[in-house]
Amino acid sequence: MNILAPSDEGLQRAAEALRAGLLVAFPTETVYGLGGDGFNPHALARIFAVKGRPRFDPLIIHIAERDSLERIAAIPSLEPAVRNKLDVLCACLWPGPLTLILPKQPEVPDLATSGLPTVAVRFPDHRVAQQLIRRSTGAVAAPSANPFGYLSPTRAEHVQEQLGDQLAFILDGGPCSIGVESTVLDLSAGSPRILRPGGTPRERIEAILGAVEGPSAEQGRMPHSPGQLKSHYAPRTALTLHRREEMILLPYEPSAGYLFFDRRSRDAWVQGLDRPYDLEPGGTSRIRLLSEGGSLGEAAARLFDLLHELDKIGVSRIRAERVPDAGLGPAINDRLSRAAAAEVLAH
Ligand code: TXA
Ligand code: MG
Repeated sequence: MNILAPSDEGLQRAAEALRAGLLVAFPTETVYGLGGDGFNPHALARIFAVKGRPRFDPLIIHIAERDSLERIAAIPSLEPAVRNKLDVLCACLWPGPLTLILPKQPEVPDLATSGLPTVAVRFPDHRVAQQLIRRSTGAVAAPSANPFGYLSPTRAEHVQEQLGDQLAFILDGGPCSIGVESTVLDLSAGSPRILRPGGTPRERIEAILGAVEGPSAEQGRMPHSPGQLKSHYAPRTALTLHRREEMILLPYEPSAGYLFFDRRSRDAWVQGLDRPYDLEPGGTSRIRLLSEGGSLGEAAARLFDLLHELDKIGVSRIRAERVPDAGLGPAINDRLSRAAAAEVLAH
């Protein structure tokens, strides 16, 4: 068992492993990361190998001090207006679930950035992540700690099941509080553009910067962020995404799994059924609610966990409800629609 409690000793052992070029999975506020020294090409190559991730999909470098940013990103090459935006964003939203794309420093290995002139940097808002980064090399490259294309892990056990035997350690920080990956915001091209909706809602960024671009509907088809392939974050079970109006009218299939947004939708569906669903033996266990009371924050925090669960109990198909498109809603709907696209692409 290579799971470590994030005690002083656990953090020390994990940090030493990172310094030695080994890989360590660690908790962040969004999802668990698969960490390696961001300046060690061998560790970076190993991240791609362990994840089965294509080399054209660049990594995020995680830092734990605002001042580490200069080592990684070429800030002086930014126009003064962009530099101001960067300063305000860092002051208001870091540490937090926001990844910034900036021009890279030449010292950052090309493997980390897939040869791009830009680099992704994030300062996670999690004590264990920060301690690990500070005690190791100050710059930890980490994609989500799942095999490429599969659901992101929000618990140490998810990492253990999927990649456990290939890592030096997994630091167990309990379940992740936000539950969807960071928002990726590109500041390298002049006007700021969201490349991936995530844990920082667009509204929070726009309250600071004014209107920002992307992501648009067509971006799912033509990704700006190299990792934004349409099929991603997918459970092994086929998933179909339904609007609420559709979801509450679905016939009951005993073998299917149902993922409702809230109790209101689930109850509306149950009322319309011609027989009570809970008469099926074990039937209720296939029906999950992202959030009883319709909280998007709670829905995001539970999303991957519930998908992992439905995947494990072996349903024939997951029928999931789209959530409202405000706050964390677009990030949740993005993950669900990519999971739904996985099946289409597989055929
Ligand atoms: O919340 C998160 O961001 C988690 C935790 C572990 O921090 N990490 C994560 O990493 O989601 P990953 O590798 O699964 O996703 C990184 C995303 C990918 O979509 C990738 O294409 C994009 O960031 N990215 C990285 N470098 C980029 C660059 N230079 N330009 C554009 N997109 C970039
Ligand atoms: Mg990922």
